[in-house]
Amino acid sequence: MDTAAIGSEARSSIGAAQSLDEIEKLRVAYLGKQGSISALLKTLGGMTPDERKEEGPKIHALREEVTAALGARKAELEQAELEQRLAAETLDLSLPAPETPKGSIHPVSQVMDELAEIFADMGFAVATGPEIEDDWHNFAALNMPESHPARAMHDTFYFPQAAGETGANEALDRAGSSARMLLRTHTSPVQVRTMKAQGAPIRIIAPGRVYRSDSDATHTPMFHQVEGLVIDKGIHLGHLKWTLETFLKAFFEREDIVLRLRPSYFPFTEPSVEADVGFAIENGRRVLGGSGDEPGHGWMELLGSGMVNRRVIEMSGLDPDEWQGFAFGVGVDRLAMLKYGMDDLRAFFDGDVRWLRHYGFSPFDQPTLSAGVGARA
Ligand code: DAH
Repeated sequence: MDTAAIGSEARSSIGAAQSLDEIEKLRVAYLGKQGSISALLKTLGGMTPDERKEEGPKIHALREEVTAALGARKAELEQAELEQRLAAETLDLSLPAPETPKGSIHPVSQVMDELAEIFADMGFAVATGPEIEDDWHNFAALNMPESHPARAMHDTFYFPQAAGETGANEALDRAGSSARMLLRTHTSPVQVRTMKAQGAPIRIIAPGRVYRSDSDATHTPMFHQVEGLVIDKGIHLGHLKWTLETFLKAFFEREDIVLRLRPSYFPFTEPSVEADVGFAIENGRRVLGGSGDEPGHGWMELLGSGMVNRRVIEMSGLDPDEWQGFAFGVGVDRLAMLKYGMDDLRAFFDGDVRWLRHYGFSPFDQPTLSAGVGARA
């Protein structure tokens, strides 16, 4: 092939090359030791000076041209490859984030936050006490001395008495049974602890864990209560009724909650009342609201309360002639079940993520009175 033919073939094959590999092969084919342009250069030696004068510049120009064309095509292919990679690797920042597992707020925590919010609005602070309690605070100071029949209802978890510990039993003998340790069976001992620690006046709620040896669909060995305590001068049952009504209306977010106070008995209150709320049956489910006396309605027992027994006020270090008060206690888990519609208490403590996903709350669902305490974001 002559210079012109090699030139036109090289131009078209370099222009058609689709990869860096092909470019390299073409470079070898034209400019390599055995390449066709290298072979043309070798023919210069056998030419006459005139022929060489004529052919030499053409062959050299062809070599330059092919070298430049190979370089240019190579740069084009490299640029295309880069663009393709950039296109493939783009990140679409407007895409929604992928679903990731999220934690949730347990309904018990949610209800406790709701209670704190509702009672804070009425001027109540939150108080706490130990879950490992002694007999005196859990029973004796609440007017349940040793052998009081009401103790039998509590199914108490007592701690074993440390027989081997020198002095332990002697100390116990001296203090009587009141030093015996147990898991608190209710939040009522926080009443005693708060009166002793703060004196009066008092307005507190005390939410927390309590323990009883009991287990079925509506009882678990650990459950939650919230205690309420108001101590001041001139406190009477009317204050109790208003407080409970205001609390339950705010909690269930219904104005038509109707309360019925029923005479009852607790050792630590006198008089004692149990509060029932009216409900209606709608689609086979109990819906709170309205009087339980209407046809097709009923009353549901909700909480225990009463005027704090003057003996309790006295044992807690206050003068019952000067200070009076009311108290109430209610199951937090039960409140959660009624408000959010669960029917098996045991599921509260199974830690099943499907249950938590269904009944749990977002950390952004902070209860506020203005948004409705149970508002879900
Ligand atoms: N401590 C009681 C219980 O666990 C509940 C209770 C009843 C608390 C009456 C009170 C109250 O403060 O006044 O069954």
